[in-house]
Amino acid sequence: MAKSHELHRSDFVKSVVAVLGTIIGGFIAIPGIGYLISPSLKFEASEAWIPLGPLENYPDGTPTLFNFTRTKINGWEKTVNSYGVYVVNHGGNQVTVFSNMCTHLSCRVNWQEDGQIYHCPCHDGKFSPTGEVTGGPPPKPLNVYETKIEDGVLSIHFVEG
Ligand code: FES
Repeated sequence: MAKSHELHRSDFVKSVVAVLGTIIGGFIAIPGIGYLISPSLKFEASEAWIPLGPLENYPDGTPTLFNFTRTKINGWEKTVNSYGVYVVNHGGNQVTVFSNMCTHLSCRVNWQEDGQIYHCPCHDGKFSPTGEVTGGPPPKPLNVYETKIEDGVLSIHFVEG
């Protein structure tokens, strides 16, 4: 009878030790697990206002290239992408900003002052100064960004596709 009672008590002690061990283990493990998985929970907003500098820095009427990079974090993977836009300052705080990415297969177009066109070297795509397709395979005009000017600084609303 006494032996059975002792067994019972030792089972109780084992149970208490197991519960305490689980609780203490949880306190130790949870921050570690959080640390390990936190990169997978991070992400950079896929849209943002990108400042392009003072509008007065862009000459009137001449498409001027501006390049910038965006860092994309996907879990533990970090990717840096570069982008280019053509800023056309029409004067009087009127501005148009085109993507320099061809709408055919995403090559970069170049402004050609002589011919007054945006030219895509990949398949000879051509766009007018207003971004309309004038030749080659591009299916649609150059993309135009939403803009804003605050305290003389031009920004574009960039949405990563
Ligand atoms: S990618 Fe520009 S014409 Fe094909």
